[in-house]
Amino acid sequence: MIRGDIKALSAYHVPDSSGMIKLDAMENPFSMADNLRKEWAKRLAEVNINRYPDAEMLNLRKKIAKHEGVEPEQVLLGNGSDEIIQMILIATVPGTCVVPGPTFVMYNLVSQWLKRPVATVPLAEDFTMNEEHFLQVCAREKAEVAFLACPNNPTGNLWRQERVEKIARGMSGMLVIDEAYGPFSERTHNYLIAPNVMVLKTFSKVGWAGLRMGYLLGDAEVIAQLNKVRMPYNINALTQASAEFLLDHFDVFEAQVAELRDERERMAEALAEFDGIQVFPSQANFLLVRVSDATRVFESLKKAGILIKNMHASDRLLVNCLRITIGSRDENSALLAALREIQL
Ligand SMILES: Cc1ncc(COP(=O)(O)O)c(C=O)c1O
Repeated sequence: MIRGDIKALSAYHVPDSSGMIKLDAMENPFSMADNLRKEWAKRLAEVNINRYPDAEMLNLRKKIAKHEGVEPEQVLLGNGSDEIIQMILIATVPGTCVVPGPTFVMYNLVSQWLKRPVATVPLAEDFTMNEEHFLQVCAREKAEVAFLACPNNPTGNLWRQERVEKIARGMSGMLVIDEAYGPFSERTHNYLIAPNVMVLKTFSKVGWAGLRMGYLLGDAEVIAQLNKVRMPYNINALTQASAEFLLDHFDVFEAQVAELRDERERMAEALAEFDGIQVFPSQANFLLVRVSDATRVFESLKKAGILIKNMHASDRLLVNCLRITIGSRDENSALLAALREIQL
C-alpha cells in the first residue's frame, strides 16, 4: 500500500486567494490584451484535439532554441520546470543531491519522493553563498546532482557570477542552474552549458504560469538521455500551440518584465522607508522582507485583502520574513497603503 514516508508528507498546499490581491506566487499580474487574446484563441481553435500532440515537438523546440541561441537538440520540454526537476532526479545516478538552503522546495521534495539523499549547504545570514563550502560539500557527499537557483527563491538574490562559474567548473556531478527568475535578473548562464552543466527555464514567471511550460537547455547527448524519462506527450497540443504563439509575441512580455523590474525598484525603495521593514536585495520578481512579527503582518494584510507569502516557519534563516511578489503598479500601491495602516 502507500509508503510510510509518503504518508508522513503533507500535500503541496495552495491557499485560497479568491477575491484577493494575489502577491504570493510570483505570477505576472497583467492579463492578456484583447487583440492578442483573440488571435491566440483563433490559433487554439485550429488544433486537432482528436489527435495526440506532436510527440517530438520539433517546431516548438526549434523556436525555443532560436530564442535561446542553442540547437533544438539541446532543448528538453517539461510540464512546468517542476516536471523537469523530477526527470533529472529520476535519470541521474541516485547519489546525494546538493542544494543551498533556503532554496526552492521542489528540489528537496522530489528527492524525498524518489528516496534520494539531500545535503543542504546553509547560506550566510545575508543569504550569500560560499562557493568553496558548496564545492566541499559536493566533494564530501560525492554529489551526483546539485541545483542552484539563479536568482534564488525565496531570497531573491543572484549569486555572484564568479561563484557560479567556480561551482560549474569544480563540480564533478551534474549542476542544474535554475533560471526561473532569470528574465528579471542581470544575466543568464547559457554560456556555461557543458556535459555536466544545464540551465533550467520556465515561462511561468514571464506571464504564462497557467500554461505549465518549462524547458531545460543542455548538452545534446545528455538531453537525449533525459528525454528517455519524459512521459510521452507530456506537453499537450493546446500548450504547444499556445507556447509557439506566445513566443511569436515575446516582445509584449519582455515589455511587461521591464515594467515589473521598475516596479521592483520602486517597491524596494518604498518598503525600505518603513520603520520596521528590512528589504533584502532582489533580482527576481519578488522581494523578501523582514519585519518584527511576520505572522501578524501577514494576517493583517490578508484581512486587508492582500495575499503574500509568510516564510517565517520555513527556515531558520527566514525568521520573520515575508515574500512579496511584485504586482501591477496599482496592486503594489495598495500593498503600501495597507502597510501604512497596520502595526509593523
Ligand atoms: C526557482 C524555481 N524553479 C522552478 C520553479 C517552478 O516553476 P514552474 O512553474 O515552471 O514549474 C519555481 C516556482 O516557483 C521556482 O521558484
